[in-house]
Amino acid sequence: LFALMVWGCVGYLFGSIPFGIVITRTFGLGDLRKIGSGNIGTTNVLRTGSKPAAAATLLLDGGKGAIAVLVARWLAAEDAAQFAGLMAFLGHCFPIWLKFKGGKGVATFLGLMLALAWPVGIACCLTWLVTAAISRISSLSALVSAASTSVWLVLFGYPQALVLGILVTALVYWRHRENIARLRAGTEPKIGKK
Ligand code: G3P
Repeated sequence: LFALMVWGCVGYLFGSIPFGIVITRTFGLGDLRKIGSGNIGTTNVLRTGSKPAAAATLLLDGGKGAIAVLVARWLAAEDAAQFAGLMAFLGHCFPIWLKFKGGKGVATFLGLMLALAWPVGIACCLTWLVTAAISRISSLSALVSAASTSVWLVLFGYPQALVLGILVTALVYWRHRENIARLRAGTEPKIGKK
């Protein structure tokens, strides 16, 4: 149990690095919290108009989820990898550095799924892309992709990660409460729009 706690802390610390804020600041694009939705994720970084900054945020926010899983799997075991991934996701959504007001977890969820069960990760990414191609709405794509996770986990033979998948999906929905309200009101902006 102690080892699991250690991997949880490692995952949380990776996950809690708010790359969106770090990148926008580094690129001199201003304060991300005062732009668009105020969220710290890739979609909002794109609202600064910088595609390279958005791409870097996506890679780093996804990468921290993947690395948490891979390091724990490499140095410990599969249950540690799952827990580290979950804690990285929680770290992104509730980072201590931002008084626990973090992001919505989409990139980190995709990254940790790619590392944990790559066919599931790829299927989730494709689900996001197909929904985005049709709707041009990032939050809707995230919600559809998150909801599809459990289906892919069962279909591709990873039932041992089902509890993790359901937890992460539920949290993605919880973090998108405001987006869901805007989607219902028909006021959610399309990708790249303010
Ligand atoms: O990945 C977050 C996305 O689903 C929504 O972001 O900035 O439109 O609230 P945002």
